[in-house]
Amino acid sequence: MCGIVGFAGKQGGEQAAPILLGGLKKLEYRGYDSAGIAVRDDVSGETRIVKAKGRLAMLVSKTDEGRAVPGFCGIGHTRWATHGEPSELNAHPHTSEDGNVIGVHNGIIENYQELKAKLMRHNYTFYSETDTEVAIKLIDYYYKKYLHTPVDAINHALVRIRGSYALAVMFKDYPGEIYAARKDSPMIIGVTQNGSKDDGTYLASDVPAILSHTREVYYLGELQLARLTADGATFYNLDGDEISIEPTTIEWEADAAEKGGFEHFMMKEIHEQPKAIRDTLNAYLKEGQINLASESGSAPLDLSSVRRIGVAACGSAWHAAMAGKYVIEKLARIPVDVDLASEFRYRDPILDEYSLIAVVSQSGETADTLAALRLAKERGIPTLAIVNVVGSTIAREADYVLYTYAGPEIAVATTKAYSAQLIILYLLAVQAAYEKGIINLDRYSALIQSMQQIPNAVERTLDNKERIQWFAAKYSSAQNVYFIGRGLDYAICLEGSLKMKEITYIHSEGYAAGELKHGTISLIEPGTLVVGVLTQEDLYEKTISNLVEVKSRGAYLMGLTTFGHYDLEDSASFVVYVPGLDPLFNASTAIIPLQLMAYYLSLARGLDVDKPRNLAKSVTVE
Ligand code: AGP
Repeated sequence: MCGIVGFAGKQGGEQAAPILLGGLKKLEYRGYDSAGIAVRDDVSGETRIVKAKGRLAMLVSKTDEGRAVPGFCGIGHTRWATHGEPSELNAHPHTSEDGNVIGVHNGIIENYQELKAKLMRHNYTFYSETDTEVAIKLIDYYYKKYLHTPVDAINHALVRIRGSYALAVMFKDYPGEIYAARKDSPMIIGVTQNGSKDDGTYLASDVPAILSHTREVYYLGELQLARLTADGATFYNLDGDEISIEPTTIEWEADAAEKGGFEHFMMKEIHEQPKAIRDTLNAYLKEGQINLASESGSAPLDLSSVRRIGVAACGSAWHAAMAGKYVIEKLARIPVDVDLASEFRYRDPILDEYSLIAVVSQSGETADTLAALRLAKERGIPTLAIVNVVGSTIAREADYVLYTYAGPEIAVATTKAYSAQLIILYLLAVQAAYEKGIINLDRYSALIQSMQQIPNAVERTLDNKERIQWFAAKYSSAQNVYFIGRGLDYAICLEGSLKMKEITYIHSEGYAAGELKHGTISLIEPGTLVVGVLTQEDLYEKTISNLVEVKSRGAYLMGLTTFGHYDLEDSASFVVYVPGLDPLFNASTAIIPLQLMAYYLSLARGLDVDKPRNLAKSVTVE
């Protein structure tokens, strides 16, 4: 969703505007529809705001790559419209009437109407439809009313704002300074003091924006404030008292957020899956045993006493959890209930029976998933987060954290993070089964060995990508695609279908094969593409029957199964084979051709693979 960058640099050092534009470029993947920057010109003392609707390239050209906006301190923003259409007027930064306060904001201010009415009673007028303009003018109001410092003014505003925010604000009276605050929306501050030209203090809503400048960062906590100057950052609580925050070193390689020779981030990330899986496995396998020591510093999870698990997640993370449910229930015989996080919090869930509520999230910032976690915590249920982004809000708030080691994921359509999430869920299942005494040491070791084969099996699956490319070219004009499977294969279908719809804009559905006859089969017409996923031996023949049923209604069949099941070619016109592992882990290989198919179809249709329309990488609002 929206992205924030800020830079407070030294006089005579690097200019702010190119740094801001470079940072915004790195945040493009999050999804946006307009962008803007504000830079203070130290000669005139004026702060210039430049905004552009559409792609960042518009802003880059409008500012002559930043040269037209001189100065050493500034803030920038990419906006994903929530309040008010995408337009220059609604784009950030927003300003108070006299230019006293200028700021950018991520998140949603729920009571902005009420705050706006209050400000209007005090003669404030508004030029945009945004909630952000209200926040900026509210800060201006308190700044003027109490003649307080920026920290006091922001704090006064924050206690009256309901909703989520990451705010970056500049005050006319405080040249060279940026103030930042956050609640439920991430904000990091990075510092470089190496004697290099880009020395200064950086602000960003997401790590990739500043990774090329610094890896030493401070994660701003909930309801905390920061004051940035060229020499560093000072932190405050809501009372305005100075507090200290420990710096963290980002371990990601500086080029991890680059395309590395691939045409798209998605393709690069698809190819990074063997590594993501290997790194995630290696983090939790010690001397042939699984060690799920939590990164939260808490005592390790005691899986032997877990009676029932609830999982809440969104999108692909929810699909990973669906696959995890099959694996955990089958192996460890622990009942697992999987909820869409957006539904979980509003159905007043009965949680007393759960020993553990787990949330799964790549970003660690998804608003609904975070809310589900907080609800479980409020009710006193132990919480586990399976998260990719280190230091994210979900990672910091959960009782237990198991990180996925997928590295930064840039493409909106997740691939490697999903694959790494599956691994954590397998590890949990195997370890729980062992701790509960359901499997013996031999089976335990065999399952671990099978998991260790996954990276190579994925590599071999990727080697076959040309066949998928050929098939995608043939089906690029498809209008509807149905993915059908049973059991674990159904979970794979859900993810395959989501990949398809989000980047190709082709209508698709993932369906439990046995459910087709209860309605959906009426949609099958001559030529409709139906993809059957058949990686589970015990369900193989049942799904074949369902495939034959849709074929006799004119469907064109693609089959996806493990090597050896060549009889599938008797029914399906095009069959893709993946290496078979222990069947419980086959989602890891079977998902690869489906990711590739969506990718090649998107390419064939001339679409923006990495940044599909209307979508954002991290959904930080409800
Ligand atoms: C997947 O391709 C999507 N971009 C989306 O469904 C995503 O998985 C979902 O928004 C959850 O995000 P999270 O993992 O960061 O919580």
